[in-house]
This record gives sequence, structure tokens and C-alpha cells, in this order.
Amino acid sequence: MMHQNLPGQPHLAYRGNELFSEDVRLSDLAKQFGTPLFVYSKAAMLSALQGYQRGFAGRHVQICYAMKANPALAVIQVFARAGCGFDIVSGGDLARVLAAGGEADKIIFSGVGKTRAEMRSALDAGIGCFNVESEAELEVLSDVALSMGLRAPVSIRVNPNVDPKTHPYISTGLKNSKFGIAHERVLSSYQRAAALAGLRVVGIDCHIGSQITQEEPYLDTVDRMLDLVQSIEAAGIPIRHIDFGGGLGINYNGETPPDACQLWEKLLARLDARSFGDRQLMIEPGRSLVGNAGVCLTEVLYLKPGTPKNFLIVDAAMNDLPRPAMYQAFHQIVPLQSRTDASKHWDVVGPVCESGDWIGHDRALASQPGDLLAVLSAGAYCMSMASNYNSRGRASEILVEGEQAHLIRRRETIADQMSSEILL
Ligand code: LLP
Repeated sequence: MMHQNLPGQPHLAYRGNELFSEDVRLSDLAKQFGTPLFVYSKAAMLSALQGYQRGFAGRHVQICYAMKANPALAVIQVFARAGCGFDIVSGGDLARVLAAGGEADKIIFSGVGKTRAEMRSALDAGIGCFNVESEAELEVLSDVALSMGLRAPVSIRVNPNVDPKTHPYISTGLKNSKFGIAHERVLSSYQRAAALAGLRVVGIDCHIGSQITQEEPYLDTVDRMLDLVQSIEAAGIPIRHIDFGGGLGINYNGETPPDACQLWEKLLARLDARSFGDRQLMIEPGRSLVGNAGVCLTEVLYLKPGTPKNFLIVDAAMNDLPRPAMYQAFHQIVPLQSRTDASKHWDVVGPVCESGDWIGHDRALASQPGDLLAVLSAGAYCMSMASNYNSRGRASEILVEGEQAHLIRRRETIADQMSSEILL
């Protein structure tokens, strides 16, 4: 049988005219579990992780999966078993990691608005590090830790003022961003942290943005971070680990982001050149570990040809796939049963009552009602940002492992949705 791989999607291939994820025929899953349906390939996640692991071979490094990209318990389990730590941003994230068997001391806690309650539960669990994002947060964290008789391990998130050259909503390391502490205030913040009795300085971190497709922003950031480490240590404050954040982009539509392994070889060469190569390193990748491991399957409900637009209405919507509406993001859309006669172009849209509810514009497809489509690159920031808008239940999720398909989340029912509400 003819195998045809999809560019940038190593786990996806047409066998004959049927699309498979690993050894599972996707149309079978759609029939068995219904649509919309998210399907993730475990092999694709692990091979993305191996890219980083190869690049770091022989180094002292902790890879902390940024679970906001895809916080499904089973996905966390896959990464925990592979030795990963986790970058969390809420008490909810913390509970998920612990429930899925992640190790507390490999957790780092990012975010500009940690509450006292979240700090307490993270201290109680014994997480590895708080990535602190403001001077005010240093004071509160010290206070909370002291009240528990503890010293909180901290790293300060530096805002290096580097342009990651990505979408403005996902740029985080520029001067005007709410994230991190401005480069010029970092040294004095470390001096304050070192003086606070409830804190223990362990590292330094940064994160400049997401879906980064060039290597220069990373290389610039490394230099700026190392300059800071030198001046902080010259002030007598040792920095044990250096965390470079996440942000490496993926191929959605022909982008060619640097390969994780090659990028890290280059970054490590810079560290070595400045004698920082033996430090403990950390990174926080999210999208690049899971984005292209996932697809969202959807059924064509109606064709609505017209002038000037032809609409193809599917059963997935902006509540399942919010990235096009939020960032004008591009996701490839392909049929589960390939056809060759795609003569018309369609705007692929969902049932939600908003003009912003679109999944793809101007796509050549030959679909009929009842046909199945796959929206690609749907492993990151899709299900994690899904909502119940229009009282739509969130989709089911499947994790494929070779020929096996594990249901890892059942479809949300309307009873689930109403269960926390109270009538007058
Ligand atoms: N570390 C921190 C502190 C972060 O804020 C993020 C992502 C990451 C790591 C992981 O970045 P990644 O490797 O996934 O690029 N919803 C947007 C992306 C938001 C990213 C937020 N922060 C999207 O769908 O494009």
C-alpha cells in the first residue's frame, strides 16, 4: 500500500487514501468516539522530546514541559515518565502534575499573578523553583514562606528586551510586556531577594515569546542572561541554574524553525565559550513538544456555496480551536479520506454564532456532508484553551500508541457543564 507522509507531521501518513496517526486509522476513531475529537501521537511527543535530549547530551539539564500547551493528565504522564519536570502557572496546574505522578521538585512555577494560596500549596508540595516576575511578588512569597517556616527557592524572570519576531500577543520579552523584571532592575531585585529571610536564590530565568522561528532572538538572549549572571555573582549571589524558557516554534504552514538539537548545540557553544557550560540548565518548551503531535478530527455538516464565499460548515468551532480567532493562526486542514478533485475553495467555519468562528480561509477541499477532516498541528494551545461557548461540550481526547488508541478524556456532557450551577 502507498504510504504518503505529510510534511512536518512525522506521525501522520496516508496509507492508500486513509489518513493514519501512527498505526491507527483516524476515520475509525472518528466513528468510534465521535467528533470533534483530538488525537495525539505518543511517539511524536517523545520524538520531539528526544530532539532536545540529543542537543543536551552530557549536560546537566532539566527539561520542564510547559504544560499550558496541553495539560491532559495522560500527556503529563508521558512526559513525567520520560523524566521531564513541568513549568506550571497555577494551583490547578500543580494539582494536575501531582495527580499524574510528576515529581514536585522538578516543578517550576511561572506567572505574574501567583496568589498566596497558590504559593502555599506549591511550598507545601515542595516544588523546585518559583520563577518570580516582580519585586512585589518577592516580598509576598518571602512572607508566605516564613509563615510556613520555610524558605522558598526562587529564580527571577528577566525581561531581556529582545524581540522574538512573533505574533504580538505571544511576545513576552519586550520592554512593554507585563512579564518579568526589566533587565536594568534585575541586579537590585536579586540583592533584595538575597536579603529576604523567606527566600533562597537558586536560579535565573527568562522566556521571550512563543512560536519563535529564528535563532537570533535566542542567541541574543543567552548573551544578555550571561552578562546578568556575571554581575549578580560579582555581587556575591550564586546562581545555580540558568533557565532559557520555551518558545521554539513549529511548522504550521511551511515555517522552518530551528531544529531543537541544532539550536541547543549553538547555544551551548556560547555558554561554553563564556565558561558557563557546566551550570545546571533548564528549558520550558511547550508547543514544540506537543503541537505537531496532535490533530483535531471534525465532520463536515453542510456545504454553503455562494458569492463571494463558499462556506464549509464543520462540527468543530472556535471553542475547540481558538487559535485562528485569537491570533489569525493558520492550521492545515486535510481530508481523512483523500480525494483528488478539490476544485473549489472554501472557508472552513464552525457552528458558533460569531463571524470570528473560522478554522481556515480559502482552502481547496472536495468534501461532502458527512466527510471527515483533520485540522493539523492541534496538539498545543487548542484543547488547553477550549471553552464551553455556546454551551458546547469540550471534545474527547485520544492518545495513540502504535496500534492502540487510549481514550484519555471523555466528551464533556451538558450535565458536566451544568453541574456547578445553581438555579435561583
Ligand atoms: N514558559 C513560559 C513562562 C511561558 O509563558 C510559555 C508560554 C512557555 C514557557 C512555553 O512556550 P512555548 O514553548 O509553548 O512556545 N496560546 C498561544 C501561546 C501562548 C504561550 C504562552 N506562554 C498560542 O496558541 O500560540
